Amino acid sequence: MTGIINRLEQGLSGGQFSFESPCYIYDPTVLKDNINALEKELGTPVIISIKANPSVELNLRLIDRGVEVASLKELNLAVNCNKIYINNPSMDKNLMRAGIAAKAFFIIDTQEQLQQLIALAGNRPLQPVILRCNVDVVSSLLPDAPAIRKDHFGMDLTSLLAAARYIRDNEKVQLLGFHLFGGSHTFQRFATYIARAALALIPLIEESYGSDIALVNLGGGFGEHWWGLQESFAAYHQALSRFPQHIELVHEAGRATFASCGVFMTTVVGTKRIAGQHYAICDGGMNQNFLLCQTENSFRRMRQPYCVRKGSQIPLENNADQKTILVGSTCSRDDVIGHYPGEDIQAGDILLFDQCGAYHSTYTVNRFLGLKEAAYYVIS
Ligand SMILES: Cc1ncc(COP(=O)(O)O)c(C=O)c1O
Repeated sequence: MTGIINRLEQGLSGGQFSFESPCYIYDPTVLKDNINALEKELGTPVIISIKANPSVELNLRLIDRGVEVASLKELNLAVNCNKIYINNPSMDKNLMRAGIAAKAFFIIDTQEQLQQLIALAGNRPLQPVILRCNVDVVSSLLPDAPAIRKDHFGMDLTSLLAAARYIRDNEKVQLLGFHLFGGSHTFQRFATYIARAALALIPLIEESYGSDIALVNLGGGFGEHWWGLQESFAAYHQALSRFPQHIELVHEAGRATFASCGVFMTTVVGTKRIAGQHYAICDGGMNQNFLLCQTENSFRRMRQPYCVRKGSQIPLENNADQKTILVGSTCSRDDVIGHYPGEDIQAGDILLFDQCGAYHSTYTVNRFLGLKEAAYYVIS
């Protein structure tokens, strides 16, 4: 059980805490601790991907950090942060204009995007830019690398080098470096290949640009439980130690820093039995926390929440043969948010799902049936 769950269980069962249900509850201290721990493990700065949790109160705590944003709304949230990186293949003129005014660093997806940015900047100064590499660069430079899932971000090797030459020949803009992100959850399988490909790319880019670059963003793809991967980190540190002195390495993280700082809370509104199966119907479900339903996974491994009953402790029936299926408040058959061992669940019980601090609140279908949005609270 995590510290935040422990506090919530005590506060809710003892009546000291009362939250509107359903809701998200965040602890910014956990966010800070996660960022510090990941930076310590990596030995590099970690840029925070605001898309993982664009809530105002949490992001106020990121003011001294580098952050990565992908929309105008996120940029507005991040505008006072130490360094802002903007990255989106579909960046529009409004986002570009605002980013120029905010002195943000643009991560360039295509040469056309760069040309548009330069045209929009006019006489205003532009920060040196960062080129986004497509994952195809890894297989182009390392024939022994395992296949990484293809995506549509950034440039292949030929386009990257052409973009570097374009910048070399353009007085308006300089090249800061490049960004190579293998995708979410890729750290364990691909991080050393990403690092090796990035190392091989540096002289090629520098040759095309005609000068040294200063920054390489290696993405990361760190999972929620990254600290359990000591062996992967040991191999990765070796790969990082080969980078030349003039290069500053940075990483980027969303879920690894936000996930464990947030809890989703929903309340049981009723129970029923159908053909021997016990169900608990909750006031929150896929509309407020789509990811719990795991509709995008072929094998749904349902989550088990902690259950709190006001004024008492509920012993967990770990050996129970039966389980209660926890369902949400829409009319979708897929609105199944978890399982609970045993059948000791009743109306009024409060369910707490941990590890819901990243993506859960925003990656959701909140207009379905016009149900109410989850409230959110920050405790520390
Ligand atoms: C470019 C980039 N960096 C970082 C992230 C954050 O990913 P994660 O939350 O898996 O760390 C994303 C997620 O989509 C991304 O697109």
